[in-house]
Amino acid sequence: MITLTKEERNLKNFINGEWTEVTNKEKVYNPANGEVIAEVPNSGAEAITQAAESARIAQREWALVPAPQRAELLYKAGTMMKERKERLSQLLTLENGKVIEEARGEVQEGIDMAFYMAGEGRRLFGQTTPSELKDKFAMSERCPVGVVGIITPWNFPIAIATWKSFPAIVSGNAVIWKPSSETPLMANELARIFEEAGLPKGILQVVYGSGAIVGQAMIEHDAIRVISFTGSNETGRKVATECGKQLKKVSLEMGGKNAVIVMEDADIDLVVEGILWSAFGTSGQRCTACSRVIVHKAVRKTLEERLLKAMKNLTIGDGLDSNNKIGPIINQTGLDKILKYIEIGKEEGAKLAAGGKQLTVENYEKGFYFEPTLFTDVSIDMRIAQEEIFGPVVSLIEVNNFEEAIAANNKVKYGLSSSIFTKDVNRVFQAQRDLDTGIVYVNAGTTGAEIHLPFGGTKGTGNGHRDSGVQALDVFTEWKAVYVDYSGKLQRAQIDTDA
Ligand code: SIN
Repeated sequence: MITLTKEERNLKNFINGEWTEVTNKEKVYNPANGEVIAEVPNSGAEAITQAAESARIAQREWALVPAPQRAELLYKAGTMMKERKERLSQLLTLENGKVIEEARGEVQEGIDMAFYMAGEGRRLFGQTTPSELKDKFAMSERCPVGVVGIITPWNFPIAIATWKSFPAIVSGNAVIWKPSSETPLMANELARIFEEAGLPKGILQVVYGSGAIVGQAMIEHDAIRVISFTGSNETGRKVATECGKQLKKVSLEMGGKNAVIVMEDADIDLVVEGILWSAFGTSGQRCTACSRVIVHKAVRKTLEERLLKAMKNLTIGDGLDSNNKIGPIINQTGLDKILKYIEIGKEEGAKLAAGGKQLTVENYEKGFYFEPTLFTDVSIDMRIAQEEIFGPVVSLIEVNNFEEAIAANNKVKYGLSSSIFTKDVNRVFQAQRDLDTGIVYVNAGTTGAEIHLPFGGTKGTGNGHRDSGVQALDVFTEWKAVYVDYSGKLQRAQIDTDA
């Protein structure tokens, strides 16, 4: 059993290189057994003022450090994360509940992101392009925006933070990070790693607290030029509205209502594995989790039977026990939301084919467990097929053909991830073209993003920006166009082009 040090149990903000005590604290719970594991600051707005003012000063120096040298710190941090991977993974399971195998995967994602973004230190490509005038040179380059604010959720407490902070740091920005207060241990560990790696003070700062106070103060502080947010659609809209008032750039990732499409020629054994992993892994608490299965009528019955059988084998319990495939839900609020949707589904006339209840696990009676749940006879417009539940709940929707399947997938307000199982290459490419999500999988479930590709989505999922991949650099940099005239005379663009 992992034990926490005194420092890990009594968390502090990390402001301008100092571990700063805050008197107002909140308890952090282990979702597996409901026990208190730590106390986290519930900071006031003044913490953001201190962080932002010092970050503004620190960032000016950091931007002057050559990008390959900035990258070396990311390499160092990545190496330290690798050395500490097992402990980080166990802490992650302790605070978030996800099973240890998945926690290791998430920490690995952070390590991959460190090495990938360190490579960007020797790229950060701009463009050169011919000028329309003689003896004139034209180019564009990326410049840091200054101080950026990142607001991250509890479901991927380290991976999502690295998707945002590492591109920002390598680009020459200072980062102020408000992690979820449900999962502060990962923020504490990452900040300590960067402190030990020698990142100059003020370049990565952690301030814990509520969205209403700390998040709002980040949006309002004029030193913070970008907000990158991952969380609910409801909160994301508020963040965007507030950022709009300040003319502040905002990048949003706000979840999904992701579907697996199963065509009549699909390999049903593979489909079942894909659904189990993407719907019930992480207890359905991934933005990309599969929460709808859109199945061709010819294979609906077979799929339903095999899925119900396979669901019986899912072992549920404490994520630190490697025999378990599914861990707990994050907290009581998460459980209540799932239970609310079970009632909604029943009232709407869907058939509850499996699950639907809170689960009591022996010796973990105070944990927040929920049965893997399958609704059948679901129609596209039902709320359980439209709204994000964020739990292990799947709705099975029958369709007559490929066109209906694509239309059903697209008929939701979100656009994060989708998947199709088929052996027909024509349908693969038609689906790739017509599915309106930011991520499309073929013959795999809806989860499993890799860090060198863009992560994000269309419609209610986002606002056009992406996390991870080189695309994340666009969030944290400004483009500067530079013209160098070496003709020794005045040349006017669009006017003196015949000269
Ligand atoms: C997420 O959904 O939040 C994580 C990314 C993934 O597994 O696809």
